[in-house]
This record gives sequence, C-alpha cells and structure tokens, in this order.
Amino acid sequence: MNTQTLIILDFGGQYNQLVARRVRECNVYCELLHYDTDIEKIKSLNPIGIILSGGPDNVFEDNAPMPDKRIFSLGVPVLGICYGEQLIAHILGGKVIIADKSEYGNASLTVDNSHKLFEGVKKTFNCWMSHSNQAEILPQGFYSIGHTDTCQNAAIANDELKVFGVQFHPEVNHTEEGLKIIKNFLINICGASADWQMSIYAKTYAEMLKAKVKDKKVLCALSGGVDSSVAAMLLSRAIGNNLICIFVDHGLLRKNEGDEVEEFFKNKQHINLIRVNVQDRFLDKLKGVTDPETKRKIIGEEFIRVFEDEAAKIGEVDYLVQGTIYPDVIESGLGKSAVIKSHHNVGGLPKNIKFKEIIEPLRSLFKDEVRKLGLELGMPEKLVFRQPFPGPGLAVRIIGEITKEKLDVLREADAIFREEIALAGLDKSINQYFAILTNMRSVGVMGDDRTYENALALRAVTTTDFMTADWAEIPHEVLRRTSSRIVNEIRAINRVVYDITSKPPATIEWE
Ligand code: XMP
Repeated sequence: MNTQTLIILDFGGQYNQLVARRVRECNVYCELLHYDTDIEKIKSLNPIGIILSGGPDNVFEDNAPMPDKRIFSLGVPVLGICYGEQLIAHILGGKVIIADKSEYGNASLTVDNSHKLFEGVKKTFNCWMSHSNQAEILPQGFYSIGHTDTCQNAAIANDELKVFGVQFHPEVNHTEEGLKIIKNFLINICGASADWQMSIYAKTYAEMLKAKVKDKKVLCALSGGVDSSVAAMLLSRAIGNNLICIFVDHGLLRKNEGDEVEEFFKNKQHINLIRVNVQDRFLDKLKGVTDPETKRKIIGEEFIRVFEDEAAKIGEVDYLVQGTIYPDVIESGLGKSAVIKSHHNVGGLPKNIKFKEIIEPLRSLFKDEVRKLGLELGMPEKLVFRQPFPGPGLAVRIIGEITKEKLDVLREADAIFREEIALAGLDKSINQYFAILTNMRSVGVMGDDRTYENALALRAVTTTDFMTADWAEIPHEVLRRTSSRIVNEIRAINRVVYDITSKPPATIEWE
C-alpha cells in the first residue's frame, strides 16, 4: 500500500505499543520493529522518520541493545525517547552517565519553545520521567532544548542531522504536552501528511486483496467475535462470494447468538456463510468432563475437526483467513513473553486443510482500529463493541459437568444480566460482564415451599488489557433488579451472588 510509514524501533520499553498508538492517533501509519532490524529492511519501507523507543537497559553496558548505526545517515529524522535519547548520545559520541538522582514520575520540564519540536507547547509543563541514566555530554552538533531541575539535557536536538531526543515519555498521558510534541515531530520535522484514515485503509486494502486473490477461494472461520467478523466483512467487500465462511455453532454460545450471527452475515450481508450445527457432537464429547483444562482441550480439538470436515466438503481452497491483530504480531514477532495465556488460543491452525497461503487482513491494526474499521464497513455498534467472549464459550462458565439443561439455564440468566446492564447504560463502561453457573445448590423458600436449587454468580469487571482487572462497582439497584428477575424468571436458580474479586488474584473467567 502506498502509505507514508514511520518506523519505531523497539528497545523493550513498557510504553512502546503506546508510542505506536499515539503516532497512529496523529493519522500517521507506523510499524514497531525489533531494535536490530536490518538496515535494508528499514530502507525498503522508505520511512518518513524513525523513533527509537525507551528500554530497560543501560547504553554503556556491553550487551546493551543497539540499532544499526546507519539509521543516522539515512537522512531521515530520528527521535529518541528515554533510552532512545541515551542511545543517540552514546552512539554519536557523547557521554551517558548514571544520574545523581533517578527520576521516576512527574517532573517539571522547561523547554525552548521556539524549537519546532515544541511549537505551540507551554514553556513549562509536567512530564513523565522514568530513568536512572542521562546524557551528560552531548555529541558534537547537538544542543539542549529542554531541561528539568536534575536533568540538563532532557530534550536535545541536532537540526542539521535531523536527530532529536527526549529523556521524558511524550507518549503517556501524564506528559501534559506529549501528543503535541509527537505531532510536531511527525508533521513539522518528518513532513507527514497525516492522512492515514480508516476509510482510506478499508478501500485500499480491499482493492489490494481483490487484485491478489482474483477469482480464487478464501476460507474463513467466523466466530461472531469482533476480529473474525471484521476480517470477513473486509474480505467480502473485496471478493464477494469467493469468500466462504464457516461458522461452527458448538452450542456453547450465549442466548440467540448463533441466530444473530447467521441473520447478520448471511441474510443481511449476503456473505457465503455455512453454519454447522454441531451442538450434540460437542455435548457428547464433553459428557462427564469436569476439569477446566480438559474441557478447553476437547473444545479446541473438536472445533478443528469440525472445521476440517466442512472444509473437506468444499475441496481445495487457495487462502485461509486468520484474524491476527497487531498486538499479536508484536508479541510473537519481537520474541517477548506472550501476554495471552496459551489456553486462550483455542483452535490454533487446522492441519488437514489444504491451502496455499494465509491472509491476515487485520495484521497491522490495533484492537480499537479493528473496531473503527468494522464501523467503516457498516457493522452495527452492537457487533463492533461486543464484549470479549472466550472460545470455549459457556463451557468455562459452568462449573462441573456441562449438560444441555445447565446451558439453557445459564443462557437465560446471562441474558437477563446483560439486558439489565445495557438498560442501566453500563454496557460501554464495564468491559466484561457475564453469569456463571456454580455447581452448588442451596436451600431457599418460594411461597410456602422449600427449594433446593442452583446458585448463580455474576461477574463484571473493568479493565484495559484483560491482564489485570477490577470488579465493577455496579449500582446496588441494578444488582437488586438483576437478582430479583433471575430468581423470579428462572426456576432452577434460587440464589444469586456477586463476585467481588479483582484479577489478580482471581482470573476473569471462573475456569
Ligand atoms: P482470564 O479468565 O484468564 O481471562 O482472566 C482473560 C480474558 O481472556 C478471555 N478468555 C479466553 N478467551 N479462550 C479465549 O478465546 C479461552 O480459553 C479463554 N479463557 C479466558 C476471558 O473471557 C477474558 O476476556
């Protein structure tokens, strides 16, 4: 695609994905690459600029990560952030020392705001520091354009070389003028046209796919989740009926979910969708199984078997779609420890399907960009802003053995909870909310009769990355109404409890 690209070289800092997000927020396309990416690869991307990220190492140590030094002679502007700034000082002939005082947290920065990096920025503002080293002697041709009380060279420049550095983190919200500084680098210094837009992306990418795939067949496993749905919509726009979607309904979905997926994709969007109703096949396999990991394994394997069986009926296909998104690429590609637990990757790649190539249409997008693309492609908000739903579905929300009866009870209760959350207008602020059918029964009283029925748990969490989460402080009246509706409308439940545990130490799902 003919897009201006900015490269971020990743030295392992904790905010690196955030740098990429910020650049894209400025409507500039960027890629986060491993710090020692080959110079030829960098050149081939024809970048408009390079950002050197932060990182935990000390530049003066023997095994400190180093970029190819030739990045400084490409004639392309470079901005170093934190470790990145220290790299500039170290590599180009200055000196980095261990600071007298480490700076972690807020610091007051005074800048030379006549410099184009600081255009329109307040002269003094709060910035976020996180370092124990600093550039003490600057390389020849460099000068300081910003300082704090303890860091004389908190921002540096060499205008002729077009190399700049900041010791603070402009990408985090705590840095007051951060986004403006990033924008200044992109627009004033790199000359970015800032025209990276989802509508253009959707159109150009669809055209590219069309030219690539021509009249070949593409197979996609559609789950109804955000990623596979957006991927299917994009491909369908590009290649119409040459896209074949297989939707495996394993019977572990939420109330009406299977029908909704079919209604939208098949009847409304006229996508070539094959719904495979294998509810009984999964129930059979899961009979008597109570261990959570065994459930997951069975479901994952069976999912692949069904998918393969269906694909075999279609015959050889040329391409297989995967809903990989950018954070997955960064995590695996940069050799860091994966953020997602292995048991979350239910499914994996089917082995017995013949295809020539994998297509990953969302490979360069962050999750919120995938949602934007979904909206751009005409998907309703309800689908685009869906809460995450685990691959093994309700099977990991029924403690103990799974039966059809339990699934039906849980589906009803979960639907009531979701309805009440939506009615209270909380569905956007709570990131995940659902019901769990415990395998515990307790005594109750209904009218004059004793009951001995199931206890249901409600779980609702707020989180940004699903790695840590807090339980949501749902207003009592919403909990009261939900509980009352559940025990009145569902005979098999006579007790409702609310889970008030954060993650860690609990996980979001109960299994
Ligand atoms: P936990 O329970 O580990 O979940 O706190 C974190 C997030 O991952 C989802 N999750 C899964 N997703 N397959 C998936 O596709 C799984 O087996 C799985 N287990 C948990 C969970 O819903 C939450 O969003």
